[in-house]
Amino acid sequence: MHIGIFATPDDAADEAAKIIIDAHTRPGFVLGVATGSTPLPLYTRLRKAHADGKSDLSGAQAFALDEYVGIAADHPERYRNVLLTELVKDGGTGLTDEALHTPNALTGDPYKAAEEYDASIREAGGVDIQILGIGADGHIGFNEPGGSLTSRTNVGALTEQTRRDNARFFDDDIDKVPTQCVTQGLGTIMEARQLVLLATGAAKADAVRELVEGGISARWPATIMQMHTNAIVLVDEPAAAKLELADYYKAQWKALHQA
Ligand code: GLP
Repeated sequence: MHIGIFATPDDAADEAAKIIIDAHTRPGFVLGVATGSTPLPLYTRLRKAHADGKSDLSGAQAFALDEYVGIAADHPERYRNVLLTELVKDGGTGLTDEALHTPNALTGDPYKAAEEYDASIREAGGVDIQILGIGADGHIGFNEPGGSLTSRTNVGALTEQTRRDNARFFDDDIDKVPTQCVTQGLGTIMEARQLVLLATGAAKADAVRELVEGGISARWPATIMQMHTNAIVLVDEPAAAKLELADYYKAQWKALHQA
């Protein structure tokens, strides 16, 4: 993994935007998109780059990592609606409504939806760049601790901590946070040709330490990324605070990226 440690979340978002903008003109480009608050500054940059004529995702397809089960179709926190707002609305990033794929968790059969979603990613030729955030408990997508490290898109249950963390999007009421989700599995995520994980803020410091320096374990699902040949982890200083080898990662980044 390459670890980039930046002074601010904006600097980390700048780097992530650069990676996507440099790659997105590839014909049939497929972007994997994440929700949560961390990638929002990145999406702001992709919209700005589109408005400035520097980026255009109109020929691209995008696949979301996950979706809540049991959320109303028109709920603003339904991940499809969040991503439509961030990437598609008012010209957004150029991405079209039809090219934004999210697990269809409204059918009453989330297991079938999960299987179909996994197949649709494969049919699109796989994900070129997968944007990721990370939960405080080390989840990516909604792959909570204790699951299979090679799982396919599946139906999962949110941990109490994740529901508590996400309650801020649901009137600060944990009871309003769905308990189930459809999420790309870790095996599915690992098939993306490049992984770009963003983590900012002190609340992610434990998860980032485990991700980068911990043993690979279902206890911290993101640690499977250590097995990927092209994974970049972009963090700010507070999220990097518990990394034992932070100085080395900084020197390595400088040597490889600013030479
Ligand atoms: C949710 C999403 C994850 C995201 C995580 C962290 O659980 N399913 O994809 O990484 O939240 O969110 P935040 O970036 O808001 O901390």
